[in-house]
Amino acid sequence: MQRIYISGRRPLSGRVAIGGAKNSAVALIPAALMGRSPTTLENLPMIRDVDLYLHLLKELGVKAELRGSRLWIDPSSIEPKPLPNGEVKKLRASYYLMGALLGRFKEAVVGLPGGCDLGPRPIDQHVKGFEALGAEVVHEGGALHLKARELIGNRIFLDMVSVGATINIMLAAVYAKGTTVIENAAKEPEIIDVATLLTSMGANIKGAGTNVIRITGVDELGGTTHSMIPDRIEAGTYMIAAAATEGEVALENVIPLHLESLIAKLREMGVGIEEREDEIRVYGPRILQPADIKTLVYPGFPTDLQQPIAPLLTKAKGTSIITDTIYAHRFKHVDELRRMGARIKVEGRSAIIEGGSPLEGTRVQATDLRAGASLVIAGLMAEGTTRLTGVEHIERGYENMVEKLRDLGAQIEVSQEEA
Ligand code: EPU
Repeated sequence: MQRIYISGRRPLSGRVAIGGAKNSAVALIPAALMGRSPTTLENLPMIRDVDLYLHLLKELGVKAELRGSRLWIDPSSIEPKPLPNGEVKKLRASYYLMGALLGRFKEAVVGLPGGCDLGPRPIDQHVKGFEALGAEVVHEGGALHLKARELIGNRIFLDMVSVGATINIMLAAVYAKGTTVIENAAKEPEIIDVATLLTSMGANIKGAGTNVIRITGVDELGGTTHSMIPDRIEAGTYMIAAAATEGEVALENVIPLHLESLIAKLREMGVGIEEREDEIRVYGPRILQPADIKTLVYPGFPTDLQQPIAPLLTKAKGTSIITDTIYAHRFKHVDELRRMGARIKVEGRSAIIEGGSPLEGTRVQATDLRAGASLVIAGLMAEGTTRLTGVEHIERGYENMVEKLRDLGAQIEVSQEEA
C-alpha cells in the first residue's frame, strides 16, 4: 500500500507547470475514435484515468502510441466490442464510450461507470439524449445496451446542466442525420475543448461554451492534431496550496480566464494574485478573511475545488460556509480534516468552518480524488507529520503531485509499505 508523508508548515515557493486537463483528456480520447484516420492529442496528463482509457483502447482494437505527453490514436481498426465489465467500471468517464460507439457504430454495450463516490451520480440525461436521437437503451447486467437503426437529430433540453451528458450527446450526434440541438447545455471549458477537436476533425458544431449547442451530422470525420487545455482544477489546487502555506508560487501553462471564480474568491480572502497571459502568481498572506462559497456550474465556483479550499478556510479569522449545489454528499474529507483539528461541521449540503484553529498532522485517509487534494493541502499546513492513505485516488487525477510539491519546497514523500 502506498502512503504519503508530509511534514507541514513550509511555505511553497517557485514555479509549477500545469498539465493537460483530466476532464478534457478523458473526453478527447473517445472523441478521437469518431475519426476514420489518426489523431494526435498533445499536452496529455500522465494520470491513472488516462492509463485506464489506454487499456480500453486496446480492448477495442485501437492502435495508440504514447510519446511523452503526445498520444497518437489510430481508430481505423476499431471494433465495437461489448465492454460490460473491466476497466469501464474503474472510471467515470468511460461513459463517453456510449456516445462515441453509438455515434460511430449505432450500437454499444458499456458497463455502468465507476469513479469517485460523491453520492448518487445518475446518467439519466445521457440516456434521455441517446433515446431522443433514436437509440433503444436497455439496462441489463450492470451495463447499458444501446442500439439504433439510425440516429436522427433532435432537440434535447437537459433537465439539469451536465458536463457528461452534454459531451456524450455531442459524440452521439456528430454522425446523426440532420441537426441536434442541446438546450441547457453545460458551458465548461472542457466542452469547448471537445467541440474544438471534433470540429477540426470535420464535425459541424456551433455554440459550444453557450447553453445551446447545435450539431449538424456529417458523413465522415478525419483525424487531426489537437493540444488540450490546461487543467484548471490542478491549477486551482496549487493556487490554494500556495495560499495555505503563505507561499509564493508561479503557475505556468494556465488559462487565467478558466479560474476567474477561484481568483475572485481568493482575492476576497486577502490572497495576492497576479494574472499574466498564461501564468498566475499567488502570494499567500499571513492573515486571511473568511468566505462563503457556493459551487455552481461554470463559470461559477467549481465543485471540484470546494474540497481543496476547505483547509485554507480553517486558517481564516471567522466563520466560512461552503455549499455544494452540484453534489450534496461531497463531504467525505470533512471527518478527516476534523481529525487534524479543524472545526468543521456538515449541515445539509453545507460545510460550516470555524476558522482559527491550527491543523495538526495525524493519520488520514483520502476517499476520493479531491478529498485527497484537500488532505494534502491540510498536511502542508499542519504542524507535525501527516500520513495519508488512499493515494491511488490522487493518482487518478493529479500528474506527479508529490514531485511537483517537492519541487516547490514541500517535505513530502510517498512510501510503499505493507498494508
Ligand atoms: N446529473 C444527473 N443526471 C445525469 C447527469 C448528471 O442527475 O444524467 C447530476 C449529477 O448527479 C450532478 C450534476 O447533475 O449532481 C452534475 O453532473 P455532471 O454530469 O455535470 O457531472 P459529470 O459529467 O459526471 C464532470 C466531471 C466531475 C465534475 C462534474 C461537475 C468528468 C469526467 N467529471 O462529472 O469531475 O465534478 O463534471 O463539474 O468530466 C473530478 O474531476 O473530481 C470530478 C468529479
